Amino acid sequence: MFEFLAPFFLISLFLLACSFIWRITARKYISSGTVASAYDAWTQDKLLERLWGEHIHLGFYPSENKNIDFRQAKVKFVHELVKWSGLDKLPKGSRILDVGCGIGGSSRILSKYYGFNVTGITISPAQVKRARELTPAGLNCNFQVMDALDLKFEDGSFDGVWSVEAGAHMNDKTKFADEMMRTLRPGGYLALADWNSRDLREFPPSFFENLVLKQLLEQWVHPKFISIKEFGNILRTNKNSSGKVFHENWNIYTNPSWYDSIIEGIRRPFAILSLGPLAIVKSIREIPTIVLMNWAFRKGLMEFGVYKCRG
Ligand SMILES: C[S@@+](CC[C@H](N)C(=O)[O-])C[C@H]1O[C@@H](n2cnc3c(N)ncnc32)[C@H](O)[C@@H]1O
Repeated sequence: MFEFLAPFFLISLFLLACSFIWRITARKYISSGTVASAYDAWTQDKLLERLWGEHIHLGFYPSENKNIDFRQAKVKFVHELVKWSGLDKLPKGSRILDVGCGIGGSSRILSKYYGFNVTGITISPAQVKRARELTPAGLNCNFQVMDALDLKFEDGSFDGVWSVEAGAHMNDKTKFADEMMRTLRPGGYLALADWNSRDLREFPPSFFENLVLKQLLEQWVHPKFISIKEFGNILRTNKNSSGKVFHENWNIYTNPSWYDSIIEGIRRPFAILSLGPLAIVKSIREIPTIVLMNWAFRKGLMEFGVYKCRG
């Protein structure tokens, strides 16, 4: 009898140990300093960049052609958000602020294809260093370490403000919106994309959904998620916004990213293998979070919000 049960017992013990390690190595949000450390580590170990390229955001998979790879879909995402938000109406040379710029993937596209003069800011010093290394001389892009909740720019300094998937890391969503709208000039364009939850006050989460949300927050340094409607209202009532705020849920276009982000590891195995055994463990460690994200976005517990408004 014991011989029959032993494999089940060992497998359960192994799974229990893995989930314990997964929980104790979670990256909980404590302050923007914890966000900075997490992104410094993700940048320095090079795993994210080798695997997913220079963009740390989801891709856009058009309804008529979902057969594009993750990296192409990310570039497409930037162009789609530019078009949807109206940022492309700005003339060349316009000053754009990229809030939470990562290693500058979007900033370089905005500068190279649209001729904008881009300033990217991130809380992570390692990202600024890498963004500078990746930016060819002559491209109008500069990068600085700065907290999005305390922007060191004069009021109305920018013709456009761009922010992709940074808001979920902000503990004060109102301050986040205030700072972006303050630095946007009257009549300027705001283009923003973020991870949101569904309206949890109107549709409270079940016990299981609560467990999932807790992991989505704690694994990737997120203090809290709010709904698209709530953030839309924050922008709408901001004293520097024109009050006309448009938002959409792009789950349908971005959801294929989750499995595609895992498939990238199979498509480019040497991207991980060349970084050594620890990189293999680190990438496997992220798979449960990616699977949970995929589940949450597919079920509508999470929503991919895009927002546009004028200053
Ligand atoms: C998911 S990454 C997105 C990066 C980039 N927008 C892109 O699309 O490639 C989130 C970014 O937000 C930045 N971030 C998070 N909290 C921040 C804060 N308080 N101030 C400035 N940047 C912040 C992170 O450092 C990181 O660069």
